Amino acid sequence: MTATPQSATNQSAQNVPAANLPGRPGDPLRGRHVVLGVSGSIACYKALEVASRLVQAGATVDVALTPSATEFVRPLAFRSLTGREPYLDMFRPHGTDGEAHVELARRADVMLIAPATASTLSRLASGLAEDFVVLTAVATTAPLLVAPAMDAQMWAHPSTEANVATLRARGVDFIGPVAGRLASGRVGAGRLTEPEQIVDALRARLGRDGGDLVGRTIVVSAGGTREAIDPVRYISNHSSGKMGYAIAEAARDRGADVVIVSTVSLPAPTGVRVVSVSSAVEMQAAVQSACADADVLVMAAAVADFRPAASAEQKLKKRAGTAGTTIDLVENPDIIGSTPAKTKRGALLKVAFAAETENLIENATSKMASKGARLMVANDVTATDAGFGSDDNRVTILDDAGGRDDLPLMSKYAVGHAILDRVRPLLTAAPASRPAK
Ligand code: PMT
Repeated sequence: MTATPQSATNQSAQNVPAANLPGRPGDPLRGRHVVLGVSGSIACYKALEVASRLVQAGATVDVALTPSATEFVRPLAFRSLTGREPYLDMFRPHGTDGEAHVELARRADVMLIAPATASTLSRLASGLAEDFVVLTAVATTAPLLVAPAMDAQMWAHPSTEANVATLRARGVDFIGPVAGRLASGRVGAGRLTEPEQIVDALRARLGRDGGDLVGRTIVVSAGGTREAIDPVRYISNHSSGKMGYAIAEAARDRGADVVIVSTVSLPAPTGVRVVSVSSAVEMQAAVQSACADADVLVMAAAVADFRPAASAEQKLKKRAGTAGTTIDLVENPDIIGSTPAKTKRGALLKVAFAAETENLIENATSKMASKGARLMVANDVTATDAGFGSDDNRVTILDDAGGRDDLPLMSKYAVGHAILDRVRPLLTAAPASRPAK
């Protein structure tokens, strides 16, 4: 039940069943065919890491190199990483296949050009198919993403700006460039986006193009709230936010628009909006604002039930002679319970978590009703191999129809997909239309 539709049905080009592919079930890259075009920039070496990460994610990767790219990086390096012969020369057929570029273009689920130099952008914009990379890009109907890399003044040059505008107008997605130190020693915009973010941007695009949550908006809370005692001290808990961010990544990989309301600063999945908060009161405001236009709320955050009645203006000093001190606590608002169940998009589907140390199912079941949740994800937070701070979790998913699924220990990303697999059929109405981005 945890395989998502696209991962359950895809076969890679080598015809390996999806279940035996490397990578994570539910990762949009798994079982997909990626054409990686590489053009002649000093950043070519990073294309090796992009290729490696794509293979590790379970994609079949075919690499096409421009002649200038082979001046920076040997084709053998890509062949070693992908297990497939790179495409180099239009006039020397690849193997026996004289129409290699057409076959390659046809097979691609997505094409990425990383790095993309100014001259490659120019050839792409004018359709000047004089090398294998542009030839394939012009021949394919698959989504095209480009990750530019060049010196800052080349990126700012009117000719580059015009080419970028032309390509964007044709639906080409740009990944970066980012600002930073450039090969010339200068600092500025033009640096290739890091390989991990490039690969994640591909995931986001594939999710948007075929995921089963396209058109849906999902709000996820993450992390432990911090309830101030004074400007220096607060009451909190052990939540790292990993569970919430993993759910957000899984939802993004299925094409949803995702907002994380977070008390922590973990690296956000590409394409996910993060709203930073600290206290339960701040989280309530942010969650309710985001949910006004959402389909689903998943409250994975560890929200403090109480906060100090008053937080001191100045750091509290230890008074001589006093053995201890007391802090009066008042109740925090119940965020998931108080968030309106009606939104601009219809009914808000609420998913709650239960962090328990005993009587897991009884406590979770009673909370589900009081929180107005359709699904309840119960986890025993005394487990040493799961729960707070761990990359894995062991959960029982209850639903308001009396269903119960005891899931084994798995990655929090897989838990995210397991939750969303159960959310999906509960989303009855078709997604409300959303203005084009
Ligand atoms: O963040 P990690 O380190 O990855 O750890 C993950 C986790 C253990 C924090 C996560 O799996 C988890 O259990 N999150 C819920 C923690 C929690 O607050 O559970 P609870 O039983 O105290 O609250 C029940 C539900 O009501 C939760 O969905 C909670 O977000 C919500 N709540 C609680 C209090 C409150 N004032 N408002 C709420 O909305």
